[in-house]
Amino acid sequence: MAYETIIVEVEDHVAKITLNRPDALNALNDQLLGELVDALQDAEGNDKVRCIVITGSEKAFAAGADIKMMSEKSFVDVFAGNLFGPEADAIVRIRKPIIAAVSGYALGGGCELAMMCDFIIAADNAKFGQPEINLGVMAGMGGSQRLTRFIGKSKSMDMNLTGRFMDADEAERSGLVSRVVPAKKLTEEAMAAAGKIAEKSMITVMAVKEAVNRSYEVPLAEGLLFERRVFHSLFATEDQKEGMAAFAEKREAQFRDK
Ligand code: CAA
Repeated sequence: MAYETIIVEVEDHVAKITLNRPDALNALNDQLLGELVDALQDAEGNDKVRCIVITGSEKAFAAGADIKMMSEKSFVDVFAGNLFGPEADAIVRIRKPIIAAVSGYALGGGCELAMMCDFIIAADNAKFGQPEINLGVMAGMGGSQRLTRFIGKSKSMDMNLTGRFMDADEAERSGLVSRVVPAKKLTEEAMAAAGKIAEKSMITVMAVKEAVNRSYEVPLAEGLLFERRVFHSLFATEDQKEGMAAFAEKREAQFRDK
């Protein structure tokens, strides 16, 4: 599929997807979301891809859902059409790891897209926010749910009720992002992190992603049991034998995803 609103590059086992609607600060419209889902599913099915990075421009990761696309829609339009539901569900079903590399604005649906990824690396100029309240609506792709789990109720209420933006330092302090890097080095740092993940056993990587995500869905005792059983099951893989043998032999492991 030829894309018009994103750019996809595969390099050293990492698929980098760049959101590319510069005139609209990468606002998420139907076309961009459709192309993004298509590219993610393509990366999921491509054996050469072992990790995915989603990024935007220096000024904006994404300034939210496309307000111009939504402004004339009725309740019936958005409810019957399940606005953003299928795309959000498809993004979180991807089993390969996804890093969000965020520079500039990550607002509304942009912040929510970043939170759908497995972790966020922020440039020092990043600004996160859920300003939907200023439009007479509220977050619709996870801003009232995921953000609350990331940063706690008080800060989430503050962000969702006042619509204020959070800078990169506050986002790191609050647990929204895993690290902050200089804006000029964002792509390099995100690709390096993705490269590190790409060196691991893909079986183990997918198991870790499932287990960490499970912690959001089930009570602690269930999550711990799930983790223990997945840990046990990894002993059935050749990569476990290889990883432990390589440690004993003081060499790099050569994982084969088996
Ligand atoms: N949708 C559509 N177009 C957008 C947009 C959006 N979310 N954000 C920016 N744009 C467009 C602007 O309309 C403008 O286009 P024109 O030149 O054609 O007018 C262009 O991008 C550049 O934007 P600005 O001139 O506004 O740039 P700025 O530097 O002055 O301000 C900004 C930047 C603070 C991010 C500002 O653009 C802004 O506040 N954007 C909207 C942010 C927002 O409210 N996001 C939430 C959307 S609703 C949502 O996401 C729902 C959900 O949860 C699913």
